[in-house]
Amino acid sequence: MYTQDQLKAMVAEAAKDEVLKNMAPGGILGVGTGSTANLFIDAIAPHQSHFAGVVSSSQASTDRLQKHGFKVLDSNSVQSLPMYVDGADEIDPQGHMLKGGGGALTREKIVAQLAQSFICICDGSKQVDVMGKFPLPVEIIPMAHAQVARELEKLGGVVTLRKVKGADSVYVTDNQGWILDVAGLSIKDPVDLESQINQIPGVVCNGLFARRKANVLLIGEAAGVRRQTY
Ligand code: A5P
Repeated sequence: MYTQDQLKAMVAEAAKDEVLKNMAPGGILGVGTGSTANLFIDAIAPHQSHFAGVVSSSQASTDRLQKHGFKVLDSNSVQSLPMYVDGADEIDPQGHMLKGGGGALTREKIVAQLAQSFICICDGSKQVDVMGKFPLPVEIIPMAHAQVARELEKLGGVVTLRKVKGADSVYVTDNQGWILDVAGLSIKDPVDLESQINQIPGVVCNGLFARRKANVLLIGEAAGVRRQTY
């Protein structure tokens, strides 16, 4: 039986192979955020000469990539990326994802939107039939937090303003936004809910990656890494 950390390491390794096999040398790679993405960064570090550079989805990933010596490019300087590799907090049978547990959802969505292929890497605990058990993160403009929270409550969620772990201060994103975590949703139509939440004034982005879903899933299970395409 593998631990969750071992499963994450296995999918990170599989993603390294997937990228090296399918991306021509000299291309630019999109890199996600989180504990699984961190393992992926470490796995590709010895192969960085394969890439002209990377585009990163958070300051945390940029720091890690630069420590390894990667050339991190501004997303504005890139028109398209062949691949984007990132984790997820939940993924449904159609490849729709819920992301943002680590707070990087907006930049993740921006970089994912540039990519021709989204490679989702996660351990088996992230696969669900219906998303919503993991609270849905919504990044907001701070001055709108109370009114956005009221709108999100109308959708049936229980809304909490994210705080820094173990502290009383409000969690601030790389974009100086705040995050509302919405618990208790049963997300049967993620494409529609993603659009609906985006319409609330003050919302910057929400953690549903349904309109731009995964193309490839590498999932770590008891039997090893399983590859699935959508
Ligand atoms: C970061 O904001 C998230 O979207 C992560 O990609 C997601 O939370 C998965 O993180 P782990 O790999 O740490 O589970």
